[in-house]
Amino acid sequence: MEQTFLMIKPDAVQRNLIGTIIGKFEQKGFKLVAAKLMQVNETLAEEHYKEHIGKPFFKGLVEFITSGPVFAMVWEGENIIENSRQLIGKTNPLEAAPGTIRGDYGIVTHRNIIHGSDSKESADREIGLFFKEEEILSYQKEIDSWLR
Ligand code: TYD
Ligand code: MG
Repeated sequence: MEQTFLMIKPDAVQRNLIGTIIGKFEQKGFKLVAAKLMQVNETLAEEHYKEHIGKPFFKGLVEFITSGPVFAMVWEGENIIENSRQLIGKTNPLEAAPGTIRGDYGIVTHRNIIHGSDSKESADREIGLFFKEEEILSYQKEIDSWLR
């Protein structure tokens, strides 16, 4: 089953949105398979966002991601990568539709609440950066048979 890496950013942790955000993915029918509250250091932040090295917002982005705890997660489900990007909404909360996480809770791009992997390749890479294999669980839920 497809997996993705989701990270609740420091702004959303500070704003007490962890439970609300987890609820959205639970209610959609996705399965949480790994999670931890953690402090990201500069090395990990730069590696995670390495596609953006050299861009004008890179330094601020690394400062922001390392500014306080994040809640890192692996979620599982059918087409979860595309699906979770839709639930999250566009990068700029101003363009993110109401009903999406960024549309409902974010105001500006540099405080946009949550990260979600954008492709199979980035999901694999980001899961590997944040989690050890043994931290990712495999388990059955009753609900599985009602989803598809
Ligand atoms: P990006 O990968 O383009 O967006 P997404 O998170 O939707 O995949 O950018 C990574 C993060 O960098 C983005 O979530 C917020 C930050 N960012 C800025 O601060 N300013 C910008 O102009 C852009 C494009 C991104
Ligand atoms: Mg991205």
